Formats: sequence, C-alpha cells, structure tokens
Amino acid sequence: MENLNFRRLRRLRYNPIIRDMVRETRLHKTDLIYPLFVVNGTNIKKEVGSMPGVFQQSIDNIIKDCNECVELGISAVLLFGIPDKKDEVGSDCYDENGIIQRAVRAIKKEVQNLVVITDVCMCEYTSHGHCGIVKGDEIMNDETIELLAKSALTHAQAGADIIAPSDMMDGRVATIRAMLDENGFMKTPIMSYAAKYASSYYGPFREAAEGAPKFGDRKSHQMDFGNADEALREIEEDIIEGADIVMVKPAGAYLDVIYRVKQMFGMPTAAYQVSGEYAMYKAAARLGWLDEEKIMLESLTAIKRAGADMILTYFAKDVARWMGKQK
Ligand code: PBG
Ligand code: ZN
Repeated sequence: MENLNFRRLRRLRYNPIIRDMVRETRLHKTDLIYPLFVVNGTNIKKEVGSMPGVFQQSIDNIIKDCNECVELGISAVLLFGIPDKKDEVGSDCYDENGIIQRAVRAIKKEVQNLVVITDVCMCEYTSHGHCGIVKGDEIMNDETIELLAKSALTHAQAGADIIAPSDMMDGRVATIRAMLDENGFMKTPIMSYAAKYASSYYGPFREAAEGAPKFGDRKSHQMDFGNADEALREIEEDIIEGADIVMVKPAGAYLDVIYRVKQMFGMPTAAYQVSGEYAMYKAAARLGWLDEEKIMLESLTAIKRAGADMILTYFAKDVARWMGKQK
C-alpha cells in the first residue's frame, strides 16, 4: 500500500482559493468585443426574435449602449449597419452618409474610450443579400473588392478605429490596405475575418442584420467546414496582405482551428462566438436545461484557452456585468 505509485492531482483542487491560484486561463472584460446592429430612425430598439437580449437600434440608442459598454469595462464594439434601402450594388455600404458611417461619427463624438470596429461586407446592403456584386449566379471577386475598399475608406473617414472585412473575397485585405494608405489612414488596423466558414451557425444573425441571400448560399467564398489546413492558408494570405488581427469564425465548433492559427502564426487572434452559438445557449437556458451564467463563462474561457486573444460575443455585456459582481 505505502509504495503505491500515483500522483495526487486533486491536491490543487480541494478548495476554491487553490483552484483559483492554479487556473491557467482567465477571461477578462477587455477580451470582449460587443456586436451592435444599427438601423435608421430614432428611439428604435427592436429585439431580434432568435437572439433574446440583442436588438436592432437607432443611433441614439446605440450611443446609450456604447456608453454602457464603457461603464462595464468592455474595450470595443463591432458595428453592423442595416440600411433602409437596398439595391443591386449595395450603394449604402460605401455612401459617406450611409447608416454605418453616420453611426460611427455619432459614437466617436459622444462616446469616449471605446474602440469602434466596423464590419465591412455587402450582404446587408444588397437587394439579393449576397456579399458582393452578382453577375448571373456568380459573386464577382474583383468588382467586389473595389467596392469593399471604398466602403472601408468611408468607415475610416467617419472615425472607425479598426476595419473588419467579413466578406471572404480574395485580395480584399490588400485592396483595403492600399486604399486606406493612399488616403492617409495608414494607422488604421485591419481585423480580417480570415478563416470564416460557410456556417449554419449564422442563422439568427441573418434575421438581426437582414442579410440572408435571396438565392443560393455563401459556399463559393466562405470556407467548407471540413477544412482546417485551408484555414491556415487563408490566414497566411491575409497576414501577407496586411491584416493586423486575424479572426476565426464561428468559434465553439472550431477550437481546433483557433488553436492551430495561434500556434502557427502567433498573431493577435480573434474568435467570433456567432449568433447561432448564442441562440443555442440562450434557448437551453430559457428551458432551464443549462445554467446561463456558467455556460457563457465556460464557453468563452474555452475559446480563450484554445488561443483566442479576443472574442466577439453577444454575451459581452452580460459577462462583464457578471464578472463585476464576483469578488
Ligand atoms: C456578413 C457577416 C455575417 C456574420 C458576420 N458578418 C453573416 C454571414 O456571413 O452570412 C455572422 C455573425 C453571426 O452569426 O453572429 N458577411
Ligand atoms: Zn457578407
């Protein structure tokens, strides 16, 4: 009996203080980025059916929400614009008085100490709901990246702190970088949605951003969920083209990809816990099947443990609030 050879790993788990001392991964409020959906009008705050607690809001309410984020200790928000009018070529997306451009200007004027990141893609702005210019049934690459660069420039001119292209066209990072640099925005970082999968987890977002494709799908530009080596090629390409931060999306089902990306490139790495992940946890919590606070902390800590330096999540405010209540 005395010489039994085993290690007592439980020694460091017997009480909460010791457990806390040996914890390897800790979530911080400053890791969190909060997505916001901006619509035209005033005093609008419309809940997204499949995303309880997430709203489409007019600029006045967005500003209140941004101030709340700052008070809660959140570093950054990610803005999505939903225009009143959509057309074939997504005009509002690169209009200097478009919804997102006006929102950014207002936030920068009214809110201090908040990093404003803008999502750059055309699907919320086009009548067909595709991420670019469509000819026949093809989403045209090179025509689209010119417009994305125009859009990015208007965001930077409005005061955006970071530009986040989410379209998955080839060459967009290089094109956006060149456009920003030529116009004096060489200091504006690019956070690229570099490994973005064609995912069913985006379902609820399409309701939030009203950007569902009217025909076809996004499989000709977003990645196949069976692939991980390819994600490394996507990330490498975006880094070469000038991305400052690279993103993997979705997060929870792609922890292996996050891990490999961080190991391989050592870049500032973001992960997007997307609408479908949020919706699943919310739904289970509503049914009383999962504990909401615990599951959000566990899921977000796992994403960080895999290698994410920052996490885009609809839980950001809830988590920050909850962390504030803890010791
Ligand atoms: C736009 C975009 C999408 C998301 C972020 N930017 C939708 C899509 O690609 O279909 C998804 C975000 C989420 O599901 O929370 N291209
Ligand atoms: Zn898109």
